[in-house]
Amino acid sequence: MKDQTICILGGSGFVGHHITNRLMADGYHIRILTRRREQHRNLLVMPDVEIQEANIHDLSQLKKHTVGCSAIINLVGILNQSKYAGETFNDTHVTLPGSIAKVCQQNNIPRILHMSALNADVARGRSYYLRTKGSGENVIHQATRDGLHVTSFRPSVIFGPDDNFFNLFATLLKQIPFVFPLACPQAQFAPIYAGDVAEAFAVALTHKETYDQRYDLCGPRVYSLRQLVEYTADLININRKIIGLSKGMSKLQAHILEIMPSKPFTYDNYLSMLTPSVCQEELPRLFNIKPTPLETIVPSYLAEYRLRGRYPHYRQTARRK
Ligand SMILES: NC(=O)c1ccc[n+]([C@@H]2O[C@H](COP(=O)([O-])OP(=O)(O)OC[C@H]3O[C@@H](n4cnc5c(N)ncnc54)[C@H](OP(=O)(O)O)[C@@H]3O)[C@@H](O)[C@H]2O)c1
Repeated sequence: MKDQTICILGGSGFVGHHITNRLMADGYHIRILTRRREQHRNLLVMPDVEIQEANIHDLSQLKKHTVGCSAIINLVGILNQSKYAGETFNDTHVTLPGSIAKVCQQNNIPRILHMSALNADVARGRSYYLRTKGSGENVIHQATRDGLHVTSFRPSVIFGPDDNFFNLFATLLKQIPFVFPLACPQAQFAPIYAGDVAEAFAVALTHKETYDQRYDLCGPRVYSLRQLVEYTADLININRKIIGLSKGMSKLQAHILEIMPSKPFTYDNYLSMLTPSVCQEELPRLFNIKPTPLETIVPSYLAEYRLRGRYPHYRQTARRK
């Protein structure tokens, strides 16, 4: 695969690191487009990875920086809109996929792998996040009418070192003394390992059967949010009374926390959690993936919290944006 360059938008993030490592192992050359090259110097030391700074929302820049790629992987996504950073769900989840489809046509790039989210649905999504993710998925799949080959992945919550789920709860559990008020304690998730997600992307790149398909991605077990937070507290050896909040109190907590600059929880996040994040079908056999149980991975990276508060390096830089 040495002659193939895969262009990854959002490749500097949590999932992007896993996919980059996995595709490098297959011998691809990786080009990551980022808004701030300096903040991702850790990626520069990786062989066969080039980092290009670009405003990917500008069509001409996107076109220029994707020349020579044989596929584009789109991992760009946001959980919350930020009026300060000028990021909207619509720009990020809908307009950008449309631009990607356009530049693929212009640059003769035949293949797109697109990251969506479980329960993304333009009509039935409960939150703005899920509706725009659903809309973006439809927009990018329309490109198949122009002869492009598109595959979408729709994961439940993704775990792995540097994730934004277990790491976030571990941090919050350490910061909040005595009693931990938990919104939506009954919300359901089937967490999938980032390494399995990366494997699915790698398989899709070489299998024509995945053209024009959309795949839900889940781990092997379903958990309530309360179970996952209790598990996190156990792993970091911290004693907190976890109080599950009612619907009304969960909404109130969301409205209060979304005012904070770091927005640890928003009303839109609350709405997303009303739909169980679980899969109806298993991933087809061609992927040959046996989903990794979280109990085999999470303890290793939460161990650091037993000793001290920890936040992964690239998350620190991300939070400063
Ligand atoms: N993590 C999960 O549990 C999960 C679950 C379901 C779906 N997903 C989806 O999976 C994808 C990757 O998730 P992740 O956890 O790896 O996210 P992440 O760590 O936040 O990485 C996303 C990357 O996208 C780029 N980005 C973000 N906002 C942007 C904007 N407005 N314009 C241009 N680039 C922007 C950033 O790159 P630069 O800062 O370098 O520009 C960032 O590193 C997202 O689409 C997400 O919605 C994730």
